Amino acid sequence: MKNGPVRVGIIGSQFQADCHAAAIGMIPDDMSVEAVASPTASHAQALAARYGIARVYSDYKELAKDPAIEAVSITAPNVLHCEMAVALAQAGKHVICEKPLCVTLDEADRMIEACRANGVLLLYGESLFFTPKYVKAKEMADSGAFGKVHLIKQSEKHFGPHAEWFWDVKRAGGGALFDLGCHGIGFAYWFLGRPKLLSVYSHLGTYVHGDKTKLDDEAVTVVEFAGNAFSIIENSWARRGGMDDRIEVYGEGGLTIANLQMGNALPTYSEYGFGYAVEKAPTTTGWSYPVFEELWNYGFPQEMHHFARAIRGLEAPQATGEDGKVVLEAIFAAYASAGLGQKVHFPFKPTAERPVDEWLNRRNA
Ligand SMILES: NC(=O)c1ccc[n+]([C@@H]2O[C@H](COP(=O)([O-])OP(=O)(O)OC[C@H]3O[C@@H](n4cnc5c(N)ncnc54)[C@H](O)[C@@H]3O)[C@@H](O)[C@H]2O)c1
Repeated sequence: MKNGPVRVGIIGSQFQADCHAAAIGMIPDDMSVEAVASPTASHAQALAARYGIARVYSDYKELAKDPAIEAVSITAPNVLHCEMAVALAQAGKHVICEKPLCVTLDEADRMIEACRANGVLLLYGESLFFTPKYVKAKEMADSGAFGKVHLIKQSEKHFGPHAEWFWDVKRAGGGALFDLGCHGIGFAYWFLGRPKLLSVYSHLGTYVHGDKTKLDDEAVTVVEFAGNAFSIIENSWARRGGMDDRIEVYGEGGLTIANLQMGNALPTYSEYGFGYAVEKAPTTTGWSYPVFEELWNYGFPQEMHHFARAIRGLEAPQATGEDGKVVLEAIFAAYASAGLGQKVHFPFKPTAERPVDEWLNRRNA
């Protein structure tokens, strides 16, 4: 068993790559970023300079060959996750893969199998499993604070992604439901102890961004679980004012409510504006809610701490490729439900290549 910080490489050099590099920088005893790979040389070099990363590659396959690297974090667009994860597994690297796990169920199977066959871990980047407020809610629920929990609400909303590929059916695979709903569905599944999924009903549409995308920018999804429980997941790419992420948990004996951005924000008014308030907030002029310790409150350093311990064999992995696959199955069924205008029961066999096509094909039929 190796000792010391896990030596990590990052694929990608933009939004989530920065988040991972910063989070890993907060846990130097557990992990260190040794290399970055990205086709955009100037971005990769800038990331390396910001976080003191020693090596920069333009091709992730070079990173896969780097003998010093033990694990690689994939923060590239969704359609590339599978190809990269399989190549990394074959090169003997543990894989940390951002959500959504991938775009097709066949890809999910290939990723899981490649990691199993090569004896490496497939760690799924579902940060909500590590978000301190949400972990507190689960600890209370598990200790019996609310009696039997029957309803989990989770919502994640903002005004749409920063990068152009997210809006493209081919490169993203799905809209707000896929991009953000994977968090909520995964969260409810994890919170309830991974029960079987029974059915899903989803309403979604393109309400605000139809000029630039065919993808959904509003979605409400109801998932029924075995054990007489359900969840309501709300997602939006059409909510002004920056990121909004919250949960409500209801049992027969109580409830708890958490809002990720509030309670760790300073209600602030500024005539002049200032640097940064919160993820995806477009302005700091007028009223804003700047958060402190944002990465910590999201749970990214805690997620990486756990992944490092899992790689060192000190903890059983808590967020895996199998979790990502269950979420993907639910997303396919949710898009089909929206296209059919009715509840879809599991097991559901996808008829389309990409999740959003389950909706677009039926809607256009
Ligand atoms: N857990 C979360 O809360 C969270 C938040 C944001 C993004 N994400 C996920 O992270 C992933 C990346 O999203 P992002 O917001 O960082 O996107 P981004 O567009 O900001 O960054 C994507 C990066 O991938 C790189 N890239 C593109 N093609 C590549 C290739 N062939 N080889 C290597 N690198 C390549 C780009 O150069 C860029 O640096 C997505 O899957 C997204 O869903 C997760």
